[in-house]
Formats: sequence, structure tokens, C-alpha cells
Amino acid sequence: MDDRCDYDDLGKRIAALTEGETDEVALMATLACEIHHSDARFDWTGFYRVTEPGLLKIGPYQGGHGCLVIPFERGVCGAAARTGEVQLVEDVDAFPGHIACASSTRSEIVLPVTDGAGRLIAVLDIDSDRPSAFDARDAEALSAILGSVFGGRALT
Ligand code: SME
Repeated sequence: MDDRCDYDDLGKRIAALTEGETDEVALMATLACEIHHSDARFDWTGFYRVTEPGLLKIGPYQGGHGCLVIPFERGVCGAAARTGEVQLVEDVDAFPGHIACASSTRSEIVLPVTDGAGRLIAVLDIDSDRPSAFDARDAEALSAILGSVFGGRALT
């Protein structure tokens, strides 16, 4: 039984909730909440923002404690920021340099977030206590939601 969320519904709900909003933090807080509560696989959901070249700092999130600062050289979040590519990690113990903010995490997906000019502004990190919880369908659907929210408006 595939218990993943209905991404079409989630996308429509987020579009309605964020209509006309351009503030980055307000958008990130709303997406972290809606995405986190949409799927039982998601145990930690949050944004790391690019606050200076090569550095990520924690932004709005849902779940237990999240590490505050991640340089681009480190972790799954750093890899997503450095490469600009989605990181699908089936087993965090097999990912060299994985940063364990929670010992219960088994798998993870991290997606780059860009603005309308294609500038990297953050990464979206989702952790699961289940092994191999994420796949290409999640990557595609979440990328589309991020693109429609952050790529389609002049952020403030
Ligand atoms: N695991 C991430 C760090 C953030 S926590 O998962 C919230 C990483 O390796 O970059």
C-alpha cells in the first residue's frame, strides 16, 4: 500500500495559501508546515537558507532539533547546494559525511530551491525514520511545488 501524500492536492493547497505572498520566510514556514503534515513518511521537514556564499543556516522547519549551520562542503544539504542537484539518500549511514541531527533518521531527500532568476536561495530537507522512503516521484513532485512557489515571483 503506497501511503504517500497526494501531491496534486498538496500543490493546490500550497498555491491557495501562498497566493500573492513574496516574503521568503513566510513562504518557507508555510511550505514546511503543509509538506510536513501531508505525509506519514516525513519526520523532519525544513529549509536551510543560503545566508552567505558557501554557507547554509537553518530556516523554518517542523520536527525535532535541526542543526543550525551547514557549510556547502558538508552533509547531504551541502551536496545539494554545491551541485544544484536533488539528493535522494536511501540509507543515510551509507552517505559519506551525512550530518545526523536526529539518530532516528534512516533516509533523506534534499532539493535545491532557486528564485525566479535561478539563484540558489535555500535547500529543502526532508528526513524519514524509514529506510528508502523517497524516490524519483517525490523528487519530481516536490521540485515542481518549489518551482511554482519560489521560481514564479519576485521574492522579498
Ligand atoms: N542530515 C542533513 C543535516 C540536516 S538534518 O537532517 C535536519 C545533512 O546531512 O545535511
